[in-house]
Amino acid sequence: MAEKGVKIAPAKGKLGVLLVGLGAVSTTFVAGVEAIKRGLAQPVGSLTQMGTIRLGKRTDNNVPKIKDFVPLATLEDIVFGAWDIFPDNAFDAAMNAGVLDKDLLNQVSEQLSSLKPMAAVFEQNYVKRLHGENVKSGKNKMELAEQLIADIARFKSDNGCDRLVMVWAASTEIFLEESEVHGSLEAFEKGLYDSHPAIAPSMIYAYACLKSGVPFANGAPNLTVDIPALKNLADQMRVPICGKDFKTGQTWMKTLLAPGIKARMLGLEGWYSTNILGNRDGEVLDDPENFKTKEESKLSVLEHILQPEVYPELYEGFSHVVRINYYPPRGDNKEGWDNIDIFGWLGYKMQIKIDFLCRDSILAAPLCLDLALFLDLAQRSGMKGVQEWLSFYFKSPQTAPGLYPEHDIFIQLMKLKNTLRHLRGEDLITHLGLEYYD
Ligand SMILES: NC(=O)c1ccc[n+]([C@@H]2O[C@H](COP(=O)([O-])OP(=O)(O)OC[C@H]3O[C@@H](n4cnc5c(N)ncnc54)[C@H](O)[C@@H]3O)[C@@H](O)[C@H]2O)c1
Repeated sequence: MAEKGVKIAPAKGKLGVLLVGLGAVSTTFVAGVEAIKRGLAQPVGSLTQMGTIRLGKRTDNNVPKIKDFVPLATLEDIVFGAWDIFPDNAFDAAMNAGVLDKDLLNQVSEQLSSLKPMAAVFEQNYVKRLHGENVKSGKNKMELAEQLIADIARFKSDNGCDRLVMVWAASTEIFLEESEVHGSLEAFEKGLYDSHPAIAPSMIYAYACLKSGVPFANGAPNLTVDIPALKNLADQMRVPICGKDFKTGQTWMKTLLAPGIKARMLGLEGWYSTNILGNRDGEVLDDPENFKTKEESKLSVLEHILQPEVYPELYEGFSHVVRINYYPPRGDNKEGWDNIDIFGWLGYKMQIKIDFLCRDSILAAPLCLDLALFLDLAQRSGMKGVQEWLSFYFKSPQTAPGLYPEHDIFIQLMKLKNTLRHLRGEDLITHLGLEYYD
């Protein structure tokens, strides 16, 4: 099967998954993996664990599981590490996040309690609502990066890991636009020595990660690794990167529905989205500067899918509003409402209403798992730089310069699976299907 494909190094030994932020998403991910390993639950929501891939013709009946088709690390191979500004171990952090039942957490308490976060690189200005003590100090930002590089190397040797990947699942930082210090690796490294204020903590982690030859995924909407300096570093070090912002609740829903509305050539007058959320993420996003980062990420999706410049009669000037309200009683159980004003034949108006009672971290955890495993696969397959085939997982997918991101989730999934087929030297599936009628 694989003679024609790309040479992929085997997934031998342990894979260290380094999580920046040991909050609701990370602890739900770690506890989930431990529970699944013990047979207490199924990996629901994870494409790498449950997904299949069709090979050849529909009549061939050849549909292996993805994890049997490409050489992925297994859950048993994974070792977790983390950084957080709070010193709580993963068990206490998970209890505090309140996502998973105590009963389930108690069954994996040994593994969770042994995961203690390393001291974080943190700057108050970037996340004003949180105040933690488990924080590194150094004379400049380069020194902080060097401390992270030392953490990464120590973790790898202490745990006997063969390979590592890093996932940013820490709080959303304040909105930041690309500036000169992000423009080249030279400017960025000088900025690290000068402790330039526009170098965010997330960028220091990403720099340390790439310098260590470790793939990086950004689960939050921060700029982080989406700047020329770090994209160049990823290319130079031949390391895969991807981001930004896990596509889980309302935006996932949007990227399901908007392609359908467009496929039928129905018009859109407006899309109003609002959420109530009561977890720590909601608290951080209650600060307007942090919300702005999220808002930008959430707003871009519809424009790209609906292409008002191509279909002005249907989509020009539609109104798109996104709100997140911090409402503590709901905890991690977010409620998202959408009101969609559409129009059809002869301009007749219609409305669609969605009320999604979701669980934020339950939706995000399997995405962390898939990203960790696919990034490791990419690294072993010699893929470097921005991994657009992983845009399936993100609200604001990173792309090559000048290339607009593909947001339609079905196109993203096809791209992901075709990338796997390509890696293994299988025919790509175009869905043309004329051969069945010859
Ligand atoms: N859950 C989802 O569905 C979803 C979807 C998209 C994006 N996200 C993003 O994922 C991230 C994590 O979400 P969450 O619900 O777990 O939030 P959370 O607040 O529960 O956890 C984030 C953790 O990061 C820590 N942290 C903050 N700054 C840090 C730093 N510089 N270094 C190390 N740790 C730091 C915080 O102390 C906290 O424990 C957020 O940015 C969120 O916006 C989540």
